[in-house]
Amino acid sequence: MIPKNFKDRVIAPSLLAADFSRIGDEVSRAIHSGADWMHMDVMDGHFVDNISFGPAVIQTVHESNDIFLDVHLMISRPDHYLSRFIAAGSDLITVHVEAEHDVAETLGRIREAGCQAGLAINPATPLKAAEPFLDQIDLLLCMTVVPGFGGQAFMPEVLEKIEAAAKFRETNGLSYHVEVDGGIDAVTAARCFAAGANVMVAGSSTFRAPDMAAAIRSIRNS
Ligand code: DX5
Ligand code: ZN
Repeated sequence: MIPKNFKDRVIAPSLLAADFSRIGDEVSRAIHSGADWMHMDVMDGHFVDNISFGPAVIQTVHESNDIFLDVHLMISRPDHYLSRFIAAGSDLITVHVEAEHDVAETLGRIREAGCQAGLAINPATPLKAAEPFLDQIDLLLCMTVVPGFGGQAFMPEVLEKIEAAAKFRETNGLSYHVEVDGGIDAVTAARCFAAGANVMVAGSSTFRAPDMAAAIRSIRNS
């Protein structure tokens, strides 16, 4: 579940980096390795230049494992597909401010369905673009790579935006967690925690680590 305190550290391995031939086992491996959430990277081949998986995979993971599903919709029309991701068992649905939809309306529909609502902004998108919606979300995802692929290098220029997002929340008495996603490992997580983020999405550095539990611990304690 989503913690109450914005300082509570959450580690969310990204399924995109898992062995797709054994998805069910990979999710339970992550749970036994200490994962708090499972980050589900949905890609449509339009909004990002890659295609991953859809509601059916969310549904099988939801039915076969008991873990909070943090669904990241990197799709052009999140409004069009929303009901299917809700029905599939998503716990938190994050949509991009850059996608082709009425952002406020989509966020409202996510919450009306009883899901937590997240808003994602790409590295090149200024925080200003998200400001009109920050009072309608439970989580702000500051992408630390250009979305589409795992295994990319962390973009340190996003740290300034993370600080600004955490400050905006305090100044305006708002209540959203700050999540980062892309190139996160123990070293970059330490910088993001220090900047004010508390939810760390990590794909390669957890699923591809020789010891997943140690990798998750090193991020959590960084
Ligand atoms: C990229 C995805 C990220 C990615 C993270 O579009 O949104 O979640 O899978 O992968 P790593 O941790 O390997 O950068
Ligand atoms: Zn993601």
